[in-house]
Amino acid sequence: MKNSRRKFLTSICMLAAASAFPIQSFGFDKSKKLKIVLVGTGVRGTSFWGKRLVDEYSDILEFVGLSDVNSGRLNYAKEYIGVTCPLFTNFDEMLKKTKPDLVIVTTVDATHHEFIIKGLEFGCDVLTEKPLTTDETKAQRILDAERKSGKNLIVGFNYRWSPYNTKIKELLMNNTIGDITSVDFHWYLNTYHGASYFRRWHGLKDKGGSLWVHKATHHFDLLNWWLDADPSEVFAYGNLEHYGSNGPFKGANCRTCEHKGNCEYYFDITQNQRMMDLYVANENHDGYIRDNCLFRDEIDIYDKMSAQIKYANDVTVNYSLTTYSPFEGWRIAFNGTKGRIEASLDIPYNINTNVDQAEMHAKEMEQNALEEAMTENIIVHKLWNDFDTVTVPTEKGGHGGGDKRLHDKIFKTPEIEDPYARSAGIRDGIMSILIGIGARNSIETGNPVKIADLTDLVPLAKRIKSTN
Ligand SMILES: NC(=O)c1ccc[n+]([C@@H]2O[C@H](COP(=O)([O-])OP(=O)(O)OC[C@H]3O[C@@H](n4cnc5c(N)ncnc54)[C@H](O)[C@@H]3O)[C@@H](O)[C@H]2O)c1
Repeated sequence: MKNSRRKFLTSICMLAAASAFPIQSFGFDKSKKLKIVLVGTGVRGTSFWGKRLVDEYSDILEFVGLSDVNSGRLNYAKEYIGVTCPLFTNFDEMLKKTKPDLVIVTTVDATHHEFIIKGLEFGCDVLTEKPLTTDETKAQRILDAERKSGKNLIVGFNYRWSPYNTKIKELLMNNTIGDITSVDFHWYLNTYHGASYFRRWHGLKDKGGSLWVHKATHHFDLLNWWLDADPSEVFAYGNLEHYGSNGPFKGANCRTCEHKGNCEYYFDITQNQRMMDLYVANENHDGYIRDNCLFRDEIDIYDKMSAQIKYANDVTVNYSLTTYSPFEGWRIAFNGTKGRIEASLDIPYNINTNVDQAEMHAKEMEQNALEEAMTENIIVHKLWNDFDTVTVPTEKGGHGGGDKRLHDKIFKTPEIEDPYARSAGIRDGIMSILIGIGARNSIETGNPVKIADLTDLVPLAKRIKSTN
């Protein structure tokens, strides 16, 4: 693969929040590889932003440091990713010693802001995993730091890049059903993937901001991008009725639980070598239990969520998120002045193949797997006409093919103009989390929340390209 550092930095520029910065302002040296550090060497950091970058783009970039609070996981990460760079349990020390060009942030959600802000202040570009952060105060601090720094911040929104989601964008951009007036959007997490959030740090609001933020940031980003408008108000309901203290029994963790035989949710982590190496082998360093009980009392996030969202262009959206569905999938319908578009993925009653619900999420996270050619449909139904079926070739691995396309855009083909504007920066990152943060605040207060009251960003009827 032939790539130049110049191309990479162009891509940063194109993807970035403050994309007003001309490429020359980076002052890069074409003869050197891009120096990258990564903080947060968990499953996402070591695989997608670690090993895959080394495997695919080593000709233009090099890891100069890895950091994590868990020194055991950090050692494992070095070997798994296949790098020789130094390791740091202290992020500040890593910045000072390695002087990177780019910081990649893949830590627990509630800590992203700390590394984003320090990275920007140190004079680095920053690429963060979603969600950008978990509350409005941190979001404002990130905005302030990004404006002061003159550096770039990219949010890794991979879902936009899957061919199916891109096709929906194209149909809407082409005004296929006129102006959109309302949307129904419903996302179903199954009893494997949905349940897994409650086993992990994601089950605590102060770690992941609840699934309104951790998970729904993907969905709200898709909505904002598809509708090409900013959200202006949200009202929500939500409750915890299935997991957490609602369970019939509980144990310390699955491995040692006396209810193994009668718990529908029993999860045998010992069958997964990667999880054993990543988490179980390193429990002694930080006490983090990856196969924790999903009925433990400390869980404080919602397991059913429902919101009404109003957009600055007057589109209204009905959204829901379920976490204990028998199948994993989603449905969306756009109502427009000239018709209706219906799309859905993975609804078992609509497809011919048999999907293993237990394996589904693992498949999504898999990178570079060989898979069968598949197609999925989108229904376009114009007023007074019969409906048309648009068939889209799809894939499952790497988040519906979104993961590798996002990487390629950043590292391989940055110069190619993207007609769908799939690159996301700080404004996109913030607008998507503000819906979830607003929904959470709405449940807590019982009142609708205005997006404009959360940060100094003003919602616009027509989105602007990811600048402040
Ligand atoms: N875009 C996607 O589809 C996608 C998929 C999976 C995860 N993610 C995101 O990636 C991030 C990491 O998720 P994960 O599933 O890899 O979680 P994980 O638990 O496997 O890894 C998190 C890592 O961060 C480390 N960490 C926690 N606090 C830290 C701190 N203060 N300083 C340094 N290290 C710290 C932990 O020790 C752990 O190694 C999350 O933000 C998550 O939302 C995104």
